[in-house]
Amino acid sequence: MLLLSMLLSNQTGKSSEVILKDVDSLLYVDTDVLFLRPVDDIWKLLRQFNSTQLAAMAPEHEIPKIGWYSRFARHPFYGSAGVNSGVMLMNLTRIRSTQFKNSMISTGLAWEDMLYPLYQKYKNAITWGDQDLLNIIFYFNPECLYVFPCQWNYRPDHCMYGSNCREAEREGVSVLHGNRGVYHDEKQPTFKALYEAIRDFPFQDNLFQSMYYPLQLKFLETVHTLCGRIPQVFLKQIEKTMKRAYEKHVIIHVGPNQMH
Ligand SMILES: *[C@@H]1O[C@H](CO)[C@@H](O)[C@H](O)[C@H]1NC(C)=O
Ligand SMILES: *[C@@H]1O[C@H](CO)[C@@H](O)[C@H](O)[C@H]1NC(C)=O
Repeated sequence: MLLLSMLLSNQTGKSSEVILKDVDSLLYVDTDVLFLRPVDDIWKLLRQFNSTQLAAMAPEHEIPKIGWYSRFARHPFYGSAGVNSGVMLMNLTRIRSTQFKNSMISTGLAWEDMLYPLYQKYKNAITWGDQDLLNIIFYFNPECLYVFPCQWNYRPDHCMYGSNCREAEREGVSVLHGNRGVYHDEKQPTFKALYEAIRDFPFQDNLFQSMYYPLQLKFLETVHTLCGRIPQVFLKQIEKTMKRAYEKHVIIHVGPNQMH
């Protein structure tokens, strides 16, 4: 219940006091998340919210037929396959001022007055903790959610049965989410290779030599897996970041006059 304890002083549940009172917005990420492009790029999505949206997440699955919620959930969930809370933008100013529709009383409830009763009502039916509660909340308040594409929360589910995240095929993975421990076991070697390449990269060092090149070599050993068959999807944003770093440090510093 990371989220509950983060947004509430979650002692007894009876008195739920709001914390982070002066924070306008935040980006919540699980500990198994890696950014393959600048954090500012996801932060910009907050500005794209329409007037009723106050949080943003990616779908839990792209194909409802094989998604977890659509097959197993015993509680309401958002959309056709639910949402994943591993990467989430929240506009707390809006969350604090909104009355949320719910399945307990016919009037709306403030976020902090709703969470604990909602948890009590559904606790025997929920499996994934706070993520299930968020799915219940946005089931009743769909107009409050901005759904961003899967490239912002890319998980093994997006390639282990074949590639099913179109946006990542086009744009590359922006935020990698190695859930179910895949950075530390042998189940998804592509995810593990990326984790190790970033872990071993000496920051400030040459991106091409010390990250991109070793990563490409490691990827050669993963081609026998379904995720390993699409290395471009994992490399595209790193390539863009390298290009940007190069332009910033080389071209700008050399200046136009010395280019001929
Ligand atoms: C969050 O919502 C409030 C109220 O609508 C708005 O003033 C603020 O600019 C929003 N924050 C961001 C980062 O968009
Ligand atoms: C904002 O977008 C959501 C999701 O598309 C939608 O349900 C909601 O009606 C929109 N709100 C407004 C005020 O247009």
